[in-house]
Amino acid sequence: MKVLGIAGSPRRGGNTDMLLAEFMRGAASKEAEVKTVILNNLKITPCQHCDACLETGECKIKDDMQMVYQELERADRIVLASPIQFTGVTAQMKAMIDRCQSRWVRKYVLKVPPLGDRRERKGFFISVGGRKVANLFEPALVMVKTLFRILDVTYAGELLFSGVDGKGAIAKHPDALHQAFLAGQKLVEESKTD
Ligand SMILES: Cc1cc2nc3c(=O)[nH]c(=O)nc-3n(C[C@H](O)[C@H](O)[C@H](O)COP(=O)(O)O)c2cc1C
Repeated sequence: MKVLGIAGSPRRGGNTDMLLAEFMRGAASKEAEVKTVILNNLKITPCQHCDACLETGECKIKDDMQMVYQELERADRIVLASPIQFTGVTAQMKAMIDRCQSRWVRKYVLKVPPLGDRRERKGFFISVGGRKVANLFEPALVMVKTLFRILDVTYAGELLFSGVDGKGAIAKHPDALHQAFLAGQKLVEESKTD
């Protein structure tokens, strides 16, 4: 069982990073092989809509996204972690999502599995927003669920915390980090009984 965490915040050691780290610690405690990719450390050019992928299902931009494609293909469970920025996911996360257009082509144009094989994959979303308003996470949720649907990844749940702004403020929440640890365990455990 391989669990891939994708960290979308530019703030290292910030709130979503802390939640993702606990989630991955929970998954690892149930014998999952875990790997975290930090998008802010990678060079991922935004999609150029060149349509090269329409023929091949491959993205012709040879940057760090090629490594991310490989990790997505290897993973059984995919955990996206992004704070809310201007009501959506971060630019780092959005660039990664848009570069999955080549996987959209695989699924809908070329009619082949978007991640190379038909094994069951599951996806999870972690997010934090500074404000405390209704529907704070809705635009990001629509985007993330769309990505998972395109990748043939079953949506397995989310952890969302509003009103968390300062770096590390999530640690003051009564049980957010513990919830993340348990959610990581559950994502792996559930699968053993599927
Ligand atoms: C550029 C930018 C835009 C933001 N936009 C929003 C927003 O639209 N809504 C919100 O609730 N918080 C917004 N925030 C606050 C962050 O979501 C919040 O600080 C969060 O805790 C950051 O998480 P991190 O530590 O994982 O990066 C924004 C922060 C930045 C830097």
